[in-house]
Amino acid sequence: MPSKPILRTCWSAAATLLEFTGESAAADRINGQRIAERWCAECHVVASGQQQGSDKVPTFAQIGGSKHFDEASLAAFLMAPYHSRMPNLSLTRSEISDLIAYIRSHGR
Ligand code: HEC
Repeated sequence: MPSKPILRTCWSAAATLLEFTGESAAADRINGQRIAERWCAECHVVASGQQQGSDKVPTFAQIGGSKHFDEASLAAFLMAPYHSRMPNLSLTRSEISDLIAYIRSHGR
């Protein structure tokens, strides 16, 4: 039966996605802030107290308030940033879900 392994692959992809959305509910926003200040603040304004990031880089408040980004699209973006000006930071899954929790706490 050649279709079985394919089905299994689909299921595990779906499970990974579900895991992401589930995880982010329990994600650690404070840890997300730490990661953001360390890895993202060089270019992005990550907190309201921060004076300046790079020019023309969206602030986390803008990203968090944007309708273009829900948790799934943020996770997909952070796993593989497609923007050439955005470095691939090789974040772990739990770092990503913490970051998303932090970003999503902005702009609300
Ligand atoms: C070296 C600079 C740099 C660093 C470090 C950086 N970014 Fe970015 N980021 C950018 C630039 C440049 C853009 C694209 C702005 C544009 O042209 O839309 C961007 C865009 C984004 C976007 C929006 C993508 C889109 O399609 O609009 C997200 C989300 C994001 N960054 C998250 C992060 C997170 C989270 C971190 C830290 C883990 C981070 N970035 C670190 C430069 C950076």
